[in-house]
Amino acid sequence: MTNIRSFEIPTVMKHGLGAINALADEARALGMTRPLIVTDPGVVKAGLLDRAAARLRAADLSFAVFDGVAPNPPIALIDEGADTYRREECDGLIGLGGGSAMDTAKSIGVVAANGGSILDYEWASPQPIQRRIPPTICMPTTAGTGSEVTLWAVITDPQRKIKFNVGGTPLIGAWEALIDPELTFDLPPAVTAGTGMDALAHAIECYTCAYAQPLPDSTALLAMEYVAHYLRVAFAQGHNAEARYKMSMAAMLGALSYGTESAGAAHAMSQSAGGVHNVPHGALTARLLGPVMEYNFKGEPEKFARIAVAMGEDIRGLSLWQAAEKAVEAVMKLTEDVEIPSLQELGFGEDEIPMLAEIAYKDPQTIGNPRDLSLQSYVQIYKRAFELGRK
Ligand SMILES: [Fe+2]
Repeated sequence: MTNIRSFEIPTVMKHGLGAINALADEARALGMTRPLIVTDPGVVKAGLLDRAAARLRAADLSFAVFDGVAPNPPIALIDEGADTYRREECDGLIGLGGGSAMDTAKSIGVVAANGGSILDYEWASPQPIQRRIPPTICMPTTAGTGSEVTLWAVITDPQRKIKFNVGGTPLIGAWEALIDPELTFDLPPAVTAGTGMDALAHAIECYTCAYAQPLPDSTALLAMEYVAHYLRVAFAQGHNAEARYKMSMAAMLGALSYGTESAGAAHAMSQSAGGVHNVPHGALTARLLGPVMEYNFKGEPEKFARIAVAMGEDIRGLSLWQAAEKAVEAVMKLTEDVEIPSLQELGFGEDEIPMLAEIAYKDPQTIGNPRDLSLQSYVQIYKRAFELGRK
């Protein structure tokens, strides 16, 4: 078998402060005459749906709204959204919100174009998605998941108590990512922190995983630099335009480093554990990232040393191994500085370690991790993560 690597995304990326003002023109340019805006109650409360709707009304573009998105969207929610899309006779989608809203919009698109239930499109070989989603614009209101440019959506199956992936094909990619960093100005610090660390986790995991290749490596390194440089500022000063802009770009760049592939152990753990307790994906991933890096650095020391540099560490005079460990330290320090809650504070108990390790081990993202993993490895990483939360 030949080993050919590829990188493909179908999404046009547009960004700028005030980009939301272009929403109606962009929707029309993609051929939408009646988009469905997919959003969540938090975005509505923050007044962002009103801002988007005002732009569409001013341009006489008809639209419908599905504002029932919940965090970690379950199967039934997607299918309900797809019903709304059909009933309202929509011909395009606008995902306005964080990862959950954008994943929901993309997933509604999968069902609208391919029929059935989103459960029919759980990632598998051969790829179950056959047709491209309808014209879709994703407008992120957080800076982290990067769902506006990923080829994935993560859906919760309450029955199996797991999250599963849909996508891995350009057919699910948004037609356009319209990124307006102003929409993130009023995010609470805890959300800024969690989502920003998620962007860092995408970059670090994809950069060090077995699927790494030059193009996504380059976006991953710049994403790390931006997060290291600007996350503390965005956390401390919500209205700092430069920090917010750079964090929005970090989210986009970090997500681009996915390509059509998956992440690594931190995401295998956070995604599986996120099906057990309904907690924010960013904070949970952030809490696991440091301990996973501590476990992983021995596999890819050169890459970890390079991460240390991207994180702003001075590695002059250090041995390769010392430099690699600096990357771990830098990420753990950042996790503390932006006050990410511990696993205990997120509601997990140490008695759950055997179960958590087992579901992480079964997660498909375990493949590609920079260091070989056994069930026992996950027990060890979880133990360390709880230990760090005990002080
Ligand atoms: Fe993530």
